[in-house]
Amino acid sequence: MADSPDITSVLTEGRVFPPPPEFSRQAHIKSMEQYRELVAQADRDPEGYWGARGKEEIFWKTPFQKVLEWKSPFAKWFVGGTTNLSYNCLDRHLATHGDKTALIFEGEPGDQRRISYREMHAEVCRLANGLKSLGVQKGDRVGIYLPMIPEVAVAMLACARIGAVHSVVFGGFSAEALRERMNDAGAKVVITSDGGWRKGAAVPLKGNVDAALPEMPTVEKVIVAQRTAKTAPAKGPKDILWNELVSGQSATCEPEWVDSEHPLFILYTSGSTGKPKGVLHTTGGYAVYVSLTTRWVFDLKDSDTYWCTADVGWVTGHSYVVYGPLMNHATAFMYEGAPTTPGPDRFWEMIARNKITILYTAPTAIRAFMRLGDEHPKKHDMSSLRLLGTVGEPINPEAWIWYREVIGRGRCPIVDTWWQTETGGIMVTPLPGATSTKPGSATLPLPGIKAEVLDKDGKPVPLGSGGKLFITRPWPAMLRTLYKDPERYANTYFSEIPGKYFTGDGARIDQDGYLWVMGRVDDVVNVAGHRLGTAEVESALVSEGRVAEAAVVGRPDELKGTSLVAFVTLKKGVEPTAAIKQALSAHVAKEIGAIARPDEIRFAEGLPKTRSGKIMRRLLRDVAAGRQTTGDTTTLEDLNVLAALRNEEE
Ligand code: WTA
Repeated sequence: MADSPDITSVLTEGRVFPPPPEFSRQAHIKSMEQYRELVAQADRDPEGYWGARGKEEIFWKTPFQKVLEWKSPFAKWFVGGTTNLSYNCLDRHLATHGDKTALIFEGEPGDQRRISYREMHAEVCRLANGLKSLGVQKGDRVGIYLPMIPEVAVAMLACARIGAVHSVVFGGFSAEALRERMNDAGAKVVITSDGGWRKGAAVPLKGNVDAALPEMPTVEKVIVAQRTAKTAPAKGPKDILWNELVSGQSATCEPEWVDSEHPLFILYTSGSTGKPKGVLHTTGGYAVYVSLTTRWVFDLKDSDTYWCTADVGWVTGHSYVVYGPLMNHATAFMYEGAPTTPGPDRFWEMIARNKITILYTAPTAIRAFMRLGDEHPKKHDMSSLRLLGTVGEPINPEAWIWYREVIGRGRCPIVDTWWQTETGGIMVTPLPGATSTKPGSATLPLPGIKAEVLDKDGKPVPLGSGGKLFITRPWPAMLRTLYKDPERYANTYFSEIPGKYFTGDGARIDQDGYLWVMGRVDDVVNVAGHRLGTAEVESALVSEGRVAEAAVVGRPDELKGTSLVAFVTLKKGVEPTAAIKQALSAHVAKEIGAIARPDEIRFAEGLPKTRSGKIMRRLLRDVAAGRQTTGDTTTLEDLNVLAALRNEEE
């Protein structure tokens, strides 16, 4: 992982894979010439380029007057236009694709549902009317805490239809994490289900909502879908069952035509300090960008069955499970449960049976499958696959090659897509019919995207050396602010080099202009493709009561990319025991969720600090990884502390 300020890049990977000619022939973007022409157009006249895309991609009720209004760091895109995203995902397709399958859903127990565009439209309208009947109005925030079942897409689209702002909370997050997010958003309604299936057991989502409810003062109603229970779930005073709410509602609902800059959703993501950041995305620019990138990057066609394995609780699920595929009248596959239930070949069996053509997943999953053994994918006929994608963290070349050979059988191009919750859509990626790929590189920025690797003075670093990754021109799907905190927005993203968007990632550019993203340079770690702020885990540890101080760092991990190591000093009089370690681990799972559970907890007498009292995480990262400290230790207050930490290891 990259380490600021001295970012050194150690990866050297020389293999190059040109796109198969038969793929290029049929692709939306067929060649590097075509790609370069688009890049040149966008560079010559960015607003002209985006204005044309804006008109082509979506339906506008009122046309926009101006493409971009940029008062750095605040952007408005497609100014003056009005539209509706639910209309663009559903109504727009009814005449031409009404009977086409929008969603193929498979539950973990094996149940399947196929939902056509027409059926989806009706479901969304019913729920939208139901939400209105509960008093939800344009601009109100609605929390969504659901498993991967069709209702999650229906709920998002119903919010978009009436101009309500959704905030999806990943079903793996705890009651505490839900409470924090719902209170920050001021959610009026929470949509949940009794549970969801995972590894054969029901995840108690409703139980978590109930636990958080007394401390979520803004929540007036809880809508409960039935998924795992055999009978209708019990109802508390604020509960209303999904089926009761929608039955009797009309299957039509006039969409609320909203301004291009009307908020569409808030999605919370980890920051390097303090509470999660409420990344705010708005309607028009997000829609145009996500629609376009879904089609180009995945080379999406009407004949495809497309599967993005991400949970809707993450941005990938928002953009490339729900909105992008539906705007492109695609058929998307959705799976509820664990990848290895009932057996290690569940994914491959589903791909073969459903004739899935495009698979978009994460390096951590690929590495886990690699470890399970080639025999599982090899048992199945996966000749339907024609394109593979990855997202979430840097993919190591070994996993990339395995993905290509064992899953793609050497035939399918791989798109390694770099982007973030904040960017709304894919930014740096191969176009599968045009770009030659190199294992481990996300390759080139999409046309219109200006990505630069800069040193601390804002100068481009020489080719091949490491620096910080910036996006130096506004783009339509960029976040607009952090919810209710424009100052934190400006400080977090636009203060490193004024006016330029700082991604928080380190990267290098090779002699072909290809980008190699090396990971985070801030105190955010990427565990199994999920961004975690070490500060949040630290504050959870301290809140247990017996901890005086905690420092959490990432350690390279073969499977998860990064694992979490917590250094903990206990309060006076508290004896370090294995039981405390267990209690701390359980406490973090309760406060944040199981994904944030430290992989290792180490008790320490003291933590290495600078004279000004800052914990030197750089040194702790070395200790955690069992490395010698090579960096400067002259600012360290007490060298003995470091020696003591190293001795702990023995
Ligand atoms: C990392 C997920 C290397 C990166 C869409 C980024 C990647 C963070 C890649 C965003 C990739 C994502 N190669 N690193 N292809 N994709 N990342 O907000 O560090 O959950 O900043 O968005 O994941 O994570 P987020």
